[in-house]
Amino acid sequence: MVSVEMPSLEEIRKSRPSKYFGLERDVISLGLAESDFEMPREVKEAMISAIINGRYHYEMNGVAEFIEAARDKLLRVNNIPVEEGEILPTVGVMNAIWLTYRVLLKPGEHVIVVTPTYPPLIGRPKSFQAEVTEVKTREDGHLDLAAIEKALTSKTKIITICNPNNPTGTVYTREELERLAEIAVKHDLYVFSDELYENLTYDGRKHVSIASLPGMYERTVTAFGFTKTYGMSGLRIGYVVAEEKIIRLMRDENTGIVIHPGTVEQIGAAAALRKCDYYTDFLKNYLERVRNRLIAELNEIPGIFARLPEGTFFAFPDLSPLFEKDEEAAEYLLKEAKVLVYSGNGFGNGGAGHVRINFCSPLEIIEEAAVRIRNALMKRYNAIDKKMS
Ligand SMILES: Cc1ncc(COP(=O)(O)O)c(C=O)c1O
Repeated sequence: MVSVEMPSLEEIRKSRPSKYFGLERDVISLGLAESDFEMPREVKEAMISAIINGRYHYEMNGVAEFIEAARDKLLRVNNIPVEEGEILPTVGVMNAIWLTYRVLLKPGEHVIVVTPTYPPLIGRPKSFQAEVTEVKTREDGHLDLAAIEKALTSKTKIITICNPNNPTGTVYTREELERLAEIAVKHDLYVFSDELYENLTYDGRKHVSIASLPGMYERTVTAFGFTKTYGMSGLRIGYVVAEEKIIRLMRDENTGIVIHPGTVEQIGAAAALRKCDYYTDFLKNYLERVRNRLIAELNEIPGIFARLPEGTFFAFPDLSPLFEKDEEAAEYLLKEAKVLVYSGNGFGNGGAGHVRINFCSPLEIIEEAAVRIRNALMKRYNAIDKKMS
């Protein structure tokens, strides 16, 4: 069986300075959305060979083997046939988020963002003087299509989704995406879909790219990346897919900022797409087990219900029965359990009362963290229970 190397907590702490920044030695970080697993060997080898063979000069149109690997993968996995000029390599998905809003929005236009979600998807349009309305998902994390339709104004230009969703772990179904597509077509809107977590879907679910649905390609911008599933966060590489006229505008913008992302990174990313399905398959199956263990532990706490995430590597339990204020839960867990998690209110409306727990770590680290969280929350529950009785 193919497997992926399991690093120790000590190695993780040393090699992930931002994830462990400022934390005491006994703290486990399940905060920053970073993988604890080494990136695939094939990616490292491709990048080393790229350097040795002098592949570190300007390649203004993108590295050809990366564009080709992305085109093949888009067809094979996402069912999106694209031409060469419809893909732009980006400096991570973050760069794609900036470019999308930059080229699609004019001041005064309106964006609907489905929340909770990754904060820059909500915040960035405001830098371009656009208005944002956050539309909360339903209780089960799926799209509230009636609320989306109700939030439309004459100025609405884009509906933004993150699929699979950071932080709720929801994987949108084909049916709900078809209904979202109907709204986009009826009101002549763009959909911006951040699909960074596309490889991580559990219980046999299949990721569906909204751009693959009939009539949607020409009105969708989709961002893909490598930071999460391939553990390549510091390499800063991703790609964005859209109609050629949009990609041309994005390329012009990016040339003025970064010229283009690193050629060595693009060559590494091509290897990830061409050679590393074994790696993403392993990770997905492994993380499904980690997820089950974590969620079972959280559901041991009286009064708390933790939904099984359908994808990504985040659990997003609602801890509001045990805490009055939003940041209180994360602060309490850091102090009492020595586990860093993120407060849910940073992810927009709908995040309040929750915490986000990143479980992209070796099983034994998550087991240790989960027991610490359970014990700390039980203590909290017992203290509240005593006060009430
Ligand atoms: C949904 C989502 N989009 C984009 C990003 C940024 O990704 P990248 O490192 O590829 O820029 C993140 C990182 O947490 C994310 O969760």
